[in-house]
Amino acid sequence: MTTLITNIKELLQVRAISVAKVSGAEMAILPTIKNAYLVIKDNFIADFGSMNDVPKIDTDKIIDATGKIVLPSWCDSHTHIVYAGNREQEFVDRINGLTYEEIANRGGGILNSAKKLNETSEEEIYQQSKARLEEVMRLGTGAVEIKSGYGLTVEGELKMLRVIQQLAQNYSITIKATFLGAHAIPTAYKENRKGYIDCMLNEMLPEIAKNKLADFIDVFCETGYFTVAETEAIMEAGIKLGLKPKIHVNQFNSIGGIQAGVKYQALSVDHLEVMTKEDIMALKNTETMPVALPSCSYFLSIPYTPAREMIAQGLPIALATDYNPGSTPSGNMNFVVAKACIKMRMTPEEAINAATINGAYAMGISETHGTITIGKKANLIITKPIPSYYQLPYAFGSNLIETIIIEGEILA
Ligand code: NIG
Ligand code: FE
Repeated sequence: MTTLITNIKELLQVRAISVAKVSGAEMAILPTIKNAYLVIKDNFIADFGSMNDVPKIDTDKIIDATGKIVLPSWCDSHTHIVYAGNREQEFVDRINGLTYEEIANRGGGILNSAKKLNETSEEEIYQQSKARLEEVMRLGTGAVEIKSGYGLTVEGELKMLRVIQQLAQNYSITIKATFLGAHAIPTAYKENRKGYIDCMLNEMLPEIAKNKLADFIDVFCETGYFTVAETEAIMEAGIKLGLKPKIHVNQFNSIGGIQAGVKYQALSVDHLEVMTKEDIMALKNTETMPVALPSCSYFLSIPYTPAREMIAQGLPIALATDYNPGSTPSGNMNFVVAKACIKMRMTPEEAINAATINGAYAMGISETHGTITIGKKANLIITKPIPSYYQLPYAFGSNLIETIIIEGEILA
């Protein structure tokens, strides 16, 4: 099956030779071709270039993209889209004055979602999660990482990871699974946190590794959740079983989680709303991707990741949604890109790099996703006719996407 897209007003993120990630000043450069064509063969990008050189080939389908922009699908490297129910009541409680931390301390928050998850059947969780996955695919996401972490019991965590596995089997979108048993200390272990950590390391992890249910291991390293020493022990146990760490750090407090992530060569450190100069310096010249989650900052009214300071120090940044029931009930990467421009002062070029190739890096898939490069997956967004790609962040509340292509197929 060969598809030819013609008359593309501007083809974004074209890289003849793909890079693994872009950092610092390079983030401001978004290579494009104006008046372009692109050829898809089966599920791969087979060719692209200027319309002046459009090849004369047999095609099964031609898409005329006059006036439209084409770019690689968003790569959302941090989500929790497998969960049961919602936390609307906590949202209203926050409007009425309680903080996210106060709600969590009362037994709400993650523990509230854990209770719901353990009471809900695997099939029902699958149905709810599949609707969220389909929703984000329609919003232009072509690869997604999904975490466990609302089970907090052996059975609950395995149930979540099996749902992620089932989604990965049933959908063409690339899905990476992360074990986040260390999301909170469950109520049953309130007085025995060591007991819960032992349960994760001795019961959950071996079962997960045996059944190949996760690619990555995550820890919520934060005051009131897991300490730096605990985070290190959990990362170490995961690494021994082949799981690379991606950790939640510096959401509310800077307690040394970034330094721990760097020490254990975490693929990414995520959140970063509260960053000291030392935290920024610790990430310099490392292979660890800093991931910002501006929809979480927006929803919780907490600080935004200091992108300008980080980019000025030569760091890369990836952008992701954090789609979850408590801090970010939204999986809209278009909104994330807009928020990064509006609130973090990232330029459109930096934000698009952060949401494509750097997001791919934060999932370990930049060889196959995140740029327009021959041989990469044909995961594409075709916009409606728009004046320029600046519209993507500028018209922040509009749906500018017309067509989604995943693995060479138009999403119906
Ligand atoms: O990434 N911070 C930790 N975990 C999630 C929120 C979890 C929840 O409130 O359910 C996050 O923001
Ligand atoms: Fe998260």
